[in-house]
Formats: sequence, structure tokens, C-alpha cells
Amino acid sequence: MKKYIMGNWKMHGLTEDLVELREIDNFSKENANVDVAIAPPFTLINAAAQHCETIAIGAQDCHISESGAHTGCISAAMIRKSGGSFAIVGHSERRKDQFEKNLEISSKAAALHKQGMHAIICVGETLAERDSGCAEEIVTGMLAASLPRKASSDWVTVAYEPVWAIGTGRIPQMEEIARMHNQLRALLVKKIGDDGHNIRILYGGSVKGENALDILSQDNVGGALVGGASLTAQKFIPIIKAAAELNP
Ligand code: PGA
Repeated sequence: MKKYIMGNWKMHGLTEDLVELREIDNFSKENANVDVAIAPPFTLINAAAQHCETIAIGAQDCHISESGAHTGCISAAMIRKSGGSFAIVGHSERRKDQFEKNLEISSKAAALHKQGMHAIICVGETLAERDSGCAEEIVTGMLAASLPRKASSDWVTVAYEPVWAIGTGRIPQMEEIARMHNQLRALLVKKIGDDGHNIRILYGGSVKGENALDILSQDNVGGALVGGASLTAQKFIPIIKAAAELNP
């Protein structure tokens, strides 16, 4: 399976930052053995899609409805029409700041599928949950409840992001990452059958050039979801390079 390296720009990025994308896109063109994507803020999706030939452009969220009286929200159809092909759903920052719950997240994924788009479904435990010793149970439970009906590898990717590792520079032990990804794989196969083997499970949380090779080499790690280190080509390209090394 090709590794999937996805950048999440969060609430960063103005028109002048699109030059970074061009550089990332050029590098990605020469490394076709890695799938690369960037989720800029909504305001840049259209321009980003026009800037890029190889990498996929998508959003960081979408609404469950196609249209309607939902001030400030963006639908899957709007993202698609702007040039986006996927959206991240259920990121821990949205679960926390916007109180998003598993059921809503599964509806968002279904709304994306309805538009022929891809859903990146995020799950991950807090530090208190990790310390409780039940992280695997909690995270697999989150995924079971966030997976839409008829999920398949054609349109679903999973991202495991321990909340305490996001933006902190701390990452789990490699064995902990592998164990969690193996558990998530088992859950996917149990829920959707053989095709569960084909869904990529990304790791996210303080991924950078220095740790990417180690993380991407772990069992069932199909790629990385990268925040801070995706904002510049200089930091993001080494992560793509690490993935390219593993998939010659
Ligand atoms: P980080 O963010 O790479 O800055 O830790 C990851 C994420 O939130 O997706």
C-alpha cells in the first residue's frame, strides 16, 4: 500500500503561503510512490487546488447537510466545487472546541461519500485516558462509533492522533503506536470484512522529518497526518522523503 502523507494547516495560511504548496507539489510529482495531500483553511482550497497538479487538496471539516440555514458552515458539495477531494472529520480540536461527537462525525463522513469524496476520520485518546491504561479500548470504541455505514477503502482513511501528542513534541513509544494501529486494523476488519485490510491508518501527533521514518515503519501505519511540520515545504518534504524510502 502506498503511504499517505497529509498536511493539516489548521487555522494557518494566507495567499502568500501558497508558494509552499507549489514546492511540495513539485517534489511530490517526482515521488509518485507516495500519496500526498494538504488540507488548507477553506479560504485557500480553491486557490490551492489551482496551484497543485499532483497533491490532493481538501478541507479540515464539513457539515452533515448539503445546504441549508447553517451560518458559517461549509458543505461537502461546496468543498468539492472549490476543488477539494476530501475532508478531515472528527479532529480532536473540533471534538473539543465544537463539541463534535462520534455520530455527527460518521454523518459528516457519509455526507462526503455522497459527494464522491474521501473522509479522513480522526480518533485518539487524551492523556488521562492513556494514563488510565484503557487507551486502546477507548480509541477502538471511538472508531467503531465514528465509522459510517458501508465504509470502504475507496473513500475512508483513518487517522490515529493521541490528543496529548498533538503540537507538543511528545510521541508515544513506537510499540504503543504499532499496538494501537494493530487494534484499529482488527476493528476495521471486524466491522467491514476483508476490505478493512485496505484502509490506510495514518498516525498523527508531532510527526516531523526526524521521527517520520521510525513512525512510518511501524506495523499498520499507512501514513502520517501532519500539523505544524506541514506548513512549510522545508519541513514537510523530509516527511514525504521518509515515506518514499519505505515504498521504493
Ligand atoms: P502536529 O498536529 O503535527 O502539529 O502535532 C497534528 C494534527 O493535529 O493533525
